[in-house]
Amino acid sequence: MNDLNMLRSIGVVASESSETEARVILRENEEKRVKVEDLVLVENRNGGKILAILRKGHGCNENLRASSYHPGVAYARIGRNPSTAKETYDFSLSVIGEIVNGRIQQNKKIIAPGSEVKIFEDNDEPMKLLAGNKHKLTIGHYEGHPNWRVPVNADFISYHIGIFASTGGGKSYLARYQIIPLLREGGYDVIVLDWKGRDYAPYYPKDQVLSISDIALDAHTVVSYLDKKMGHFGYSTSGGTILQALEDFIYSEKWRGLSVKEFRIALEGSIIHSVNEKRLQSGRPFEEEQRFKRAYKRLTDNDIQNILGTKTPKDILKEAREKHILIIDMKKTGKDEKLSVFLTLANYLMERMQNDEDLYLALVIDEGPQYCPFKPEGIQQETTDIIIDLCALGRTHKLSICLLSQGIAGEIGINAAVRRNLNTQFIGKIHPLDMNEAGNWLSPFNIDPRFLLSLPPGHFYFMGSMNPSPIPLLITFEIE
Ligand SMILES: Nc1ncnc2c1ncn2[C@@H]1O[C@H](COP(=O)(O)OP(=O)(O)O)[C@@H](O)[C@H]1O
Ligand SMILES: [Mg+2]
Repeated sequence: MNDLNMLRSIGVVASESSETEARVILRENEEKRVKVEDLVLVENRNGGKILAILRKGHGCNENLRASSYHPGVAYARIGRNPSTAKETYDFSLSVIGEIVNGRIQQNKKIIAPGSEVKIFEDNDEPMKLLAGNKHKLTIGHYEGHPNWRVPVNADFISYHIGIFASTGGGKSYLARYQIIPLLREGGYDVIVLDWKGRDYAPYYPKDQVLSISDIALDAHTVVSYLDKKMGHFGYSTSGGTILQALEDFIYSEKWRGLSVKEFRIALEGSIIHSVNEKRLQSGRPFEEEQRFKRAYKRLTDNDIQNILGTKTPKDILKEAREKHILIIDMKKTGKDEKLSVFLTLANYLMERMQNDEDLYLALVIDEGPQYCPFKPEGIQQETTDIIIDLCALGRTHKLSICLLSQGIAGEIGINAAVRRNLNTQFIGKIHPLDMNEAGNWLSPFNIDPRFLLSLPPGHFYFMGSMNPSPIPLLITFEIE
């Protein structure tokens, strides 16, 4: 353990302090070394040692007040160097807590003005104070200090995780490099829903990647998929006798397990038999047959391959248990099919939990707004509802939902009811439209939401239940 008395002093606490907030006036030249987000120790003159983070830096020079006339201002105007005699620098302190017997507790004493403030440096180990003996798992490292692995409270994994950053902010990388290994160490098997098949599938061994076309779709989805692929048989809206014939065929389930070639023969035979039973050469039945044949030409072998999958949710879960990390590669199919596969899986997990099973399973849902947008409609309403149910039951039955989204709130964000269920958050570089929401979350901790606009990729504020610190910590991680 590092010796807390050996730390370098950087300044003293200014007047107007409280038990949660204070400002530190920096000693001369410390402003050239000390940075925002640095970790410090306050030797409270009222008793106790307090761990805190420097935030919201502030520079002041009495001689350079821009809005009034001073000799300093006059010098500046004629290009002479202004005096630094009346220059001061200070930072806000965001209090993490008081260090008692090597552990962090809530600070209850007022931080005395004039208390000395000391900085933690690379070879000190402040993260050990946060971890105590309880929190063994870690995530990434504290920004600027690669050897400060940030501790995690694993008890709250099943209280769900939200990862928010605009496109290119490093969400998928965070999930791949940090969250998935963390979930594994916490004893959870992981199923990843890779919406585009680009963020996870290429990076895992082939036997851990399942193509969405291997998964059995329910009959309802298959009908709407085929109907769409065949251009609704030339009708402007779906319906009509051909669609009915298609439904009869698909709902009969007789096609399951056929090869593409066999499927073609069965489908064609069945539909022509239905719409033109007597094989007439003119009239309405004949026209319907022609209409079907024209549409049928648009159906490729690939399209058919996509619906011939045989794996059930039960098989998927079994594979996840064997391989521990299973990626579902969702490229190649349309949005509705992807969401429908998700629904089938989610329904199955609900069933297992309703039978009182603890799952120790995590679902990583990348591209979250596709599943639970701000204002869901149609199938997205169903997926949104079931995510809320999964979250509710998952807390006690050890199903962790980890949702990634490029936006937090509003049009670019995710559904508010889902968001309320994600008790741990990682917030990276945000979209300017999210300034308000990010401000609501982070301003209480002296984090300026404007600072979030310019965070580099892979930098995230870690906050919420899984963070042993009551205030958000800025973390990052190395990539190969
Ligand atoms: N920790 C990191 N350090 C450096 N670069 C990173 C880090 N994380 C992500 N990146 C860079 O950011 C890019 C975008 O990351 P990605 O996870 O795909 O973003 P998102 O999923 O938010 O759109 C990556 O291609 C990578 O080059
Ligand atoms: Mg991504």
